[in-house]
Order: sequence, then C-alpha cells, then structure tokens
Amino acid sequence: MTLVTKPDTAHSHAVAVAPAMTSAKLAKPNLMSVEQAKALDVARMTDLFKAHLNPGQLHFMKLLGFHKIKIERAEGMHYIDQNGRKILDFFGGFGSLALGHNHPRVLEARKKFQDEKRHEIGIAFMSQYASALAYNLAQISPGDLDMVFFGSSGSEAMEAAVKLAERAAGPARPKIVYAENSFHGKTKGVLSVTDGALYRGEFKLTENTVRVPFGDIDAIEKAFRSDSAIGAIVLETIQGGGGINKAPAAFWHKLRVLCDQYGVIWVADEVQCGVGRSGRFYAFEHYDVVPDITAVAKSLGGGKAAMAAMIARRDVYMKAYGTPKTAMIHAMATFGGIGEGCITAIETLNVLYDEGLIENSADTGAYLLARLEELQAKYPKIIKEVRGQGLMVGLEFHDFSQTLPMVLRPVVSVLDDKLKGSLSGFVGALLLRDYDVLVAFTEYNRNVVRLLPPLTCSRADVDVLIAALDSLLGRGIVSIVKDFVKSQVK
Ligand SMILES: Cc1ncc(COP(=O)(O)O)c(C=O)c1O
Repeated sequence: MTLVTKPDTAHSHAVAVAPAMTSAKLAKPNLMSVEQAKALDVARMTDLFKAHLNPGQLHFMKLLGFHKIKIERAEGMHYIDQNGRKILDFFGGFGSLALGHNHPRVLEARKKFQDEKRHEIGIAFMSQYASALAYNLAQISPGDLDMVFFGSSGSEAMEAAVKLAERAAGPARPKIVYAENSFHGKTKGVLSVTDGALYRGEFKLTENTVRVPFGDIDAIEKAFRSDSAIGAIVLETIQGGGGINKAPAAFWHKLRVLCDQYGVIWVADEVQCGVGRSGRFYAFEHYDVVPDITAVAKSLGGGKAAMAAMIARRDVYMKAYGTPKTAMIHAMATFGGIGEGCITAIETLNVLYDEGLIENSADTGAYLLARLEELQAKYPKIIKEVRGQGLMVGLEFHDFSQTLPMVLRPVVSVLDDKLKGSLSGFVGALLLRDYDVLVAFTEYNRNVVRLLPPLTCSRADVDVLIAALDSLLGRGIVSIVKDFVKSQVK
C-alpha cells in the first residue's frame, strides 16, 4: 500500500493518508473533533486561519485588534470572549441578529426539532416547514407578494430575484437598472448590479446593466424612456454597504408609478434593511408602496440559521415559472427550505411580533439618532452626519486627510492605505479595546461607522455606546490617532 503524506497544519507534523481500497478500512485522516475545535486558542486559530482560510484578511483583523479575541459565548446584546469580557454588539452581524444572540425561544424550537428527529431536506417530499414559513411571509408581506423561494444567503435570494425579473420581463427586455453604491451580493450574477470596484474585481460581468445615482428619479425616468430593453430595476430600499443611504421620501411613489408606466419590474433588496430593522417589517412600507419582487435574509435566520427568501407578486412569478414546463427552471437548491432553517425562521418571525421588536427598532432607533445628533452638536469638527432609520444607523466622520497634523500623516499611511483619512477604523478599534463596544465598518465609504444592533437593543444599551463615543471623541483626533498607533506597536 502506497502512503501519501499531507502536511498537517492542525497538528504541525506529517500524517499518513492511505488511498482507498475496496474493502480495507480507510485510515482516518488526522481530524479535529468538535471539542478540540471549541478549545483552540487564539494562536492556533491564527495559524489555521492563515493556512486554510484567508491570510490577507488577518491584516485587517490585526489593524483593528480583532485578532486577539476568541469569542466563547454570545447572549442577547453581548459577545463573551475567552477572558470573560462582555462586548456590547452594535455590529449585529451586519444586521443578522434582530433577536440578539441565542434567543431562548429560537434555541428551544431548534432543540425540540432535533429531539423529535425531524427531517431536513425538502426535495423529494413537500415540506410542512417550508410551506408554513412561506405562508407566514405571505401574511406579513403587503399586496400580492405571495410567492416565496427559499435560499441560504442574501446573494442567493437576490440571484433568484434578478432571474425571476429577467424571465418575467421577457427576452426582449434583458437590461437591468441598478444604483451607484449598491450592494446586492458577491455571487457572479448579482455582482453585475453590485457597485463596489473592490468586489467587482476584474471579473467578466454581464453588460446588460444601466447604472444610475441612488434616489435620482429623473435619471431613472430618462433611462426608462430612452431604452425599451430595460426590463427590471434593482434597488436596496436603504443602502447598507454604501454607508446607510436613504432616497428622498417622494422617490418611492414616483418609482412605482414609473415602473407601472414603462412595465419595468421593481426588485426591492431588503436583505439588510428588512425583517424589522427600519422600524417596519420591510423598509418600503414606510412609503406605502409595494415592489414586484423583494428579498430578505440575514435576520430571517434568527441569528442561528442560514435562511433567505425571495418573495414575489404571484402574477410575476407565474409568468416566469408558472407551468410544469417552466416550474423547475429555478426551483429550490439542495438546502433551500431546509427543515431546521425554516422552523428557526418561523419562530423568529413569531418572536419579532410577540416581543414588539419592530416597534422597539423604531423607538430605540429614534433615540439612538437623537443621542448621536447631540454628539454631533458637541463634536461638529469630527462628526459630519448621522442618518438612518430604525436600528440601521450611519455615523459619518469628516475626512481628516487634510486636517491631521503633518507629523502624523506618514505614520497613518504606513499603517494602511485605507486608514489615511478615515477616523472610523481608529474609532472602531478603540471602542473595542477601551470600551468593550463593537461597531461595523463600511467598505464603500471609509468614513462611516455602521450601527446595526439587535432589535432587542434598549435605551440603556444606547447610553453605553454614546458614553463610550463621547469619552473617545473627547480625547480629540490627534490623541485618538496616537492611541491607535500605540496599540499597533504593542
Ligand atoms: C442589501 C444586501 N443584499 C445582499 C447581500 C448579500 O447577502 P449574503 O452576504 O447573505 O450573501 C447583503 C449582504 O450584506 C446586503 O447587505
């Protein structure tokens, strides 16, 4: 028997791997157990991250000091690290944690499902879980948004939405309008309507797209009027990755009218702003309009499951996939509507309403904005703008590339290009290091800190964040930068 060796990065010595033979027992590769995985320390995690996951990403974790932290548990608004330190979570998994971490009702529903040995894969037979979740989503959704497709990521739901729109629009109208600063996912199809140069890389993307400024109704009307091949428009109702951008309130009604007038299908991406985050279940409900297709993900999985859904108007859906001949063109993938994911989402939706979390998002979100505005008034030279809706809030700092004292500029640019004029990296790193508060960053606009806490967030949690920000900003920009630089050389 020939033995081949594979470097064993998990145990740092070589291990023998036997090729398969018909009946001989296979030598088990040197696998880690679940308990060993839980017990890995930061040094070993770093080695494995470098060896097998994403070595380049460690650079950013190191800049922010995130590489020193191992999360052992998470509960409600908090992460708990290896030293028992409680970290207040205003990052919220980019909006995936509407119920907070490990909501007891979600844990209980999942545990019961497992104890009852329920089935997961819903391909051969109809699934009672997928059927019930689709019913719930149709109950929640306004108008005739009744037809549901399940996937396991926001990108997958958006792929389904864009494909449905294209088929419903018909082959003569394959062009899609999308917005500047949009983010709809990184899979190959939706990358064509995602506006970030970083993500678009040098991939060969579809040329059937038309880019317009976000919230510019005149640009959309011009595009629709001048190009009859346009069949769909894809927009986040509130842009997340772009830095928490809202369109003017009057925009949405006009958009609906234009789409009806030109027969263009409107796809509302609610992956980040949906599931109650904005203070309504869907952000478009603030404007009393209904799109033709929408998509939710992130918080739909209650922070425990990878769940996503596309929800479409029945007539649009039927036009595209309504016959036995067309039904399987884009039917669910292997894990679409998986059992435990569906019951997790069903429980999540029930908790959302039972605990009044959508209302809390509106109320606590308004309080958060008001408190941030007070800070803006106190630090007008540091904070440029605060904006958002519900618990989807952006805090934009002035770009300080020109105002930072000359002596500090070279130091900062040596650290990283991205940090040159941006205070958000420094603020985020120091909020975590000195105040145990976690916030999110924004790739497209490096001056914006994103706040997407669980919708269970209380006014007291907001007060903790505001006190931390107040104390940190009170140090002044030069001290903040110096403190950050010191943390890098430690
Ligand atoms: C608005 C929006 N659409 C789509 C996506 C893609 O979702 P996922 O990362 O689950 O694929 C995201 C993710 O951040 C998003 O914010």
